[in-house]
Amino acid sequence: MRTVKVPLGDRSYSIRIGRNLLCRLGAECQRLELGKRCAIISDRNVAPRYATVARRALSAAGFESVLVTVPAGEPAKSLANVHSCYNQLAAHRLERKSFVVALGGGVVGDLAGFVAATYLRGVAFVQVPTTLLAQVDSSVGGKVGVNLEAGKNLVGAFYQPRLVVCDLDTLGSLPDREFRAGLAEVIKYGIIYDAALFKRLERDLPRLLRRDAKTLADVIARCCAIKAEIVGQDETENGLRAILNFGHTIGHALETISSYGKFLHGEAISIGQVATARISAKLTALPEHDVTRIARLFERAGLPTHTRLKSTQLARLLDAMKLDKKVSDGEIRFVLARRVGEVVAGQKVPGTLIEPALDIAQ
Ligand SMILES: NC(=O)c1ccc[n+]([C@@H]2O[C@H](COP(=O)([O-])OP(=O)(O)OC[C@H]3O[C@@H](n4cnc5c(N)ncnc54)[C@H](O)[C@@H]3O)[C@@H](O)[C@H]2O)c1
Ligand SMILES: [Zn+2]
Repeated sequence: MRTVKVPLGDRSYSIRIGRNLLCRLGAECQRLELGKRCAIISDRNVAPRYATVARRALSAAGFESVLVTVPAGEPAKSLANVHSCYNQLAAHRLERKSFVVALGGGVVGDLAGFVAATYLRGVAFVQVPTTLLAQVDSSVGGKVGVNLEAGKNLVGAFYQPRLVVCDLDTLGSLPDREFRAGLAEVIKYGIIYDAALFKRLERDLPRLLRRDAKTLADVIARCCAIKAEIVGQDETENGLRAILNFGHTIGHALETISSYGKFLHGEAISIGQVATARISAKLTALPEHDVTRIARLFERAGLPTHTRLKSTQLARLLDAMKLDKKVSDGEIRFVLARRVGEVVAGQKVPGTLIEPALDIAQ
């Protein structure tokens, strides 16, 4: 088992990464000195596979758990489900010292985290991420929240978990498309922060795609360490943390204009990162060789790298980018790359550069 620490003063916590960790969930929670009662929030795909093991482990350590199951998929991140979770927590008499366990992907983590942040003005919560995306990204850093009809993640909070437990074995049942989508965030860490990681991914991609446990453990631990370092320096996104949004300005807009149906988040940000690399070649002197390496790695991971838009869709894409939370004073600001491993935030990008960057077939 590997441990990565997230350094946030008295809110610091550990990320445990390894095989067969679900069985140790109870023992890990015991160290946190929490109350006896907890609620596991999970979804309809994950609960039937993993909730029994999690509950058994909690019970063996003296905890009483109740299981709250929500539907699977992005629409579950709603205020209606927050409400329903509150009612179930209250019905099972969870109190101030009780805690919430988020067992699932990023949807469950964001929803359960928001429930934990607000129920009784905040109860402790533990993340048990079961998708690659959640293990390397959404379970770490404390952004929690739900969607409104007007847009994604519009209601939320910064609320750090007390512990993150990444059981690599849970990734075994993840559908291939979801696994590849998670790789888009993994590759992102190489581009924004760590040229050596990027190189390793170029070398070890076949092992990763086979879900080789040792390679997965190394890579997930490195991604978590990078996120921990960034969040440790800028918890509430006043500066450095913005670099995590590389490729996301275009990616989020693509998700919005396709009504969250066509692309998974990882697929949308794969297209977004490749397009942003091309824009970076024009504005921040990213070498063409690096643009090619970036596009090639996403392609080898089985992710889309371009999309052709009609002019009406392009107009909607630009509008959607202007509505993004990251926009301030109406100006669209991008994170651009200078080279693989180094990016710079807050760069203005003229709209005219966006379409050609999206539409270059490999
Ligand atoms: N809080 C953050 O910092 C942050 C960062 C990135 C993304 N997010 C959010 O994360 C969400 C996406 O997360 P996701 O990609 O994990 O999606 P998800 O939670 O919807 O999971 C993807 C699918 O896989 C299923 N699943 C999960 N684990 C499984 C397993 N082990 N075996 C089989 N099936 C499994 C789920 O039921 C779902 O159908 C989005 O809502 C996004 O906004 C949050
Ligand atoms: Zn993302």
